[in-house]
Amino acid sequence: MKVLEVKNLSKTIDGTVIFKDANFDMEKGEVICIIGSSGSGKTTLLRCLNLLEVASTGTIFVDGNEYFDYKSFAKLKDEEIRNRQLQLGLVFQNFNLFPQYTALENILLAPSLRKGSNKEQLKNDALNLLDQVGLKDKANLYPHQLSGGQQQRVAIARALILNPEILCFDEPTSALDPELTVEVLKVIKDLASKNKTMIIVTHEMSFAREVSNKIIFMDNGEIVEISDSSTFFTAPRTERAKKFLSNYKNN
Ligand SMILES: Nc1ncnc2c1ncn2[C@@H]1O[C@H](COP(=O)(O)OP(=O)(O)OP(=O)(O)O)[C@@H](O)[C@H]1O
Ligand SMILES: [Mg+2]
Repeated sequence: MKVLEVKNLSKTIDGTVIFKDANFDMEKGEVICIIGSSGSGKTTLLRCLNLLEVASTGTIFVDGNEYFDYKSFAKLKDEEIRNRQLQLGLVFQNFNLFPQYTALENILLAPSLRKGSNKEQLKNDALNLLDQVGLKDKANLYPHQLSGGQQQRVAIARALILNPEILCFDEPTSALDPELTVEVLKVIKDLASKNKTMIIVTHEMSFAREVSNKIIFMDNGEIVEISDSSTFFTAPRTERAKKFLSNYKNN
């Protein structure tokens, strides 16, 4: 079964179309990279998928169940929206860790609020996740005591502990120096090798090519091309994609 189906999704803000007619789906274990020039609507699409913004039209199904319908969304109670949001996780560009909490506390915050959560089990899970992202010895440090790459890896662990069906990333390395980028991309590649279903907005073309099964190429609010990765990078179908890729090669 499809883990995600997006049908006719669009977002208009104050009469301006930010993106329109987004149609795509994904299988469990697939990794999709969304690429496209600045301002093409990638972040807004991701925020609509995560219900941080309400799309203006369209429907979204997760695991075959209705997750978003623009016609009925306004009637949903906050608790129902939060429950649905748990099905997708989002890792932000700027990590967004709480500065007053340690790495471990940042990871434990959201799951501890769940009814009937087992604190010991959660702490074990959190420590295992910190180990998985290479930060076993940093559990008790505060964000300001961690490098940007380390903070981003804590943010990834924080998203993973909620075990979302789909983990989304919005330019997870764009705030990082190149050497810190490598360690974050390594963690994401590791997740891909474990068949974690992921949607990643990125400007890192070689990473996108390596990690994704499918590419969604956006330009000016439109999904111009959806292709499997090797096809996209070797034989893009559209002129717009060709131009976009040639700009990258020239940089
Ligand atoms: N709340 C808003 N009000 C008005 N315009 C907005 C709003 N949010 C986004 N936009 C506009 O929508 C367009 C798409 O923005 P978005 O952030 O989704 O692009 P992006 O593809 O993520 O770009 P980048 O690669 O620079 O991150 C931009 O022109 C932006 O100015
Ligand atoms: Mg963006």
